[in-house]
Amino acid sequence: MSATVVVGCQFGDEGKGKVIDFLAANADVVVRFQGGANAGHTVQVGDALYAFHLLPSGVLRKRTMNVIGNGVVVDPAQLLKEIDETRARGHPVTNLRISDRAHIVMPYHKVLDGLEEKLKGGLGAGTTLRGIGPAFEDKVGRFGIRMCDLIDPELLRAKLQAVVPIKQRLIEAYGGHERLDADALFAEHEAYGKRLAPFVIDTSAWLDSALKRRKRLLFEGAQGTHLCIDHGIYPFGTSSDCVAGAAAVGAGIGPQHLTDLIGVAKAFTSRVGAGPFPTELDGPMAEHLRERGGGEYGTTTRRPRRVGWLDLVMLRMAVRVNGLTRLAVTKLDVLGGLDRIRVCVGYRHDGGVLKEFPASMRVLSEAKPVYREFKGWPDLPEPEWIGIAGRGRRALPESTQRYVAFIESQLHVPVRILSVGRSRAATMGR
Ligand code: GDP
Ligand code: IMO
Ligand code: MG
Repeated sequence: MSATVVVGCQFGDEGKGKVIDFLAANADVVVRFQGGANAGHTVQVGDALYAFHLLPSGVLRKRTMNVIGNGVVVDPAQLLKEIDETRARGHPVTNLRISDRAHIVMPYHKVLDGLEEKLKGGLGAGTTLRGIGPAFEDKVGRFGIRMCDLIDPELLRAKLQAVVPIKQRLIEAYGGHERLDADALFAEHEAYGKRLAPFVIDTSAWLDSALKRRKRLLFEGAQGTHLCIDHGIYPFGTSSDCVAGAAAVGAGIGPQHLTDLIGVAKAFTSRVGAGPFPTELDGPMAEHLRERGGGEYGTTTRRPRRVGWLDLVMLRMAVRVNGLTRLAVTKLDVLGGLDRIRVCVGYRHDGGVLKEFPASMRVLSEAKPVYREFKGWPDLPEPEWIGIAGRGRRALPESTQRYVAFIESQLHVPVRILSVGRSRAATMGR
């Protein structure tokens, strides 16, 4: 019995949704285990484009069950909107289960997210304003409302009566003017609970029995290693653990099942939000990377993504903290049409070269990348790449193969999935 975990190696938006959808063809269950509606996972099927925030990316595959684990914070209004929109596009979404232990993102969390960002000034991460930080703060602070409370009107009312006045005081202390109304919040959320109740179960117990029945589990990470609350750039990341080990905690299964650990990395680096970014580019090269392949704009917030060269210092750390056993490299097509391509192999700092990603944001912002330069490859439009993808890795331009081989040699992990376009067909993998 073994399970596959897919995590991001960088700052999120590596193409996890696409890789999950590709792997879901051979999975029985797809499980989200952390994060919330801050995630935006794009899946393209034919000409149809889907952007999932809370629904696991296996939801379009009828025979695949999709689980939202206890480690996810669920915004019920957003989840219901996604269910409705996906149904309107012809998918029944009956293949969904939600953990009774998952915490709820409440409207006051979004208010507090905005207020905290403003007050933090230069320490703000440029959040998605989806209420993620305050919802995880409430989980740890034990103010949280869980899915099992949402579907139990009596408990929900009691909890809201206790928590809402506290949140009101906090909003006022932060200089906010929003008025919370516990009765209105109760009425709104009781209705959400009624609609979501049929999906809510003890997903840990359900996953345990799925493992015993030898079902193939696929864990869908959100965000990325360098946004992880423990291992990411702090305080410019997100509020949950985004590394592979979190899959066991966030789904309620034993860690011995997690044996196939896939890291997804873009062939370059991008991020939305604030914080130091050693290989960041500006000018025409940045425009090239941003505008190619459908554009680099946040799936959740539509903000333009900051872009830069591939950073192997970041990836080396991702290999270590996730224990990666294979890699998926996406967006190789986006680098097409460039004469020279650079890859960062270390950081110059204080007269020496750092090989490991530093904890200190001061060191990181002072670090200067050490680059290796590579010959580029031709600009191939997606249909031509698709032909190549079907024929396997050796059909890629030689310089692309060299680039991928260099990544493998530096990280000591095989690249087993390559993506050269948005569509399912533009993927090659083992
Ligand atoms: P996720 O958050 O990791 O699932 O990634 P997002 O979906 O937020 O962002 C990845 C974006 O890149 C989406 O628009 C995908 O459709 C697109 N994408 C994924 N793989 C490729 C690829 O190989 N080439 C190109 N051009 N686009 C890709
Ligand atoms: P997926 O799953 C990219 C970033 C935000 C911000 C920081 C904190 O699509 O890869 P938050 O709202 O989580 O408190 O914001 O993290 N961020 C993401 N960036 N992809 C994501 O998810 C992200 N989720 C959060 O931009 O800098
Ligand atoms: Mg995304």
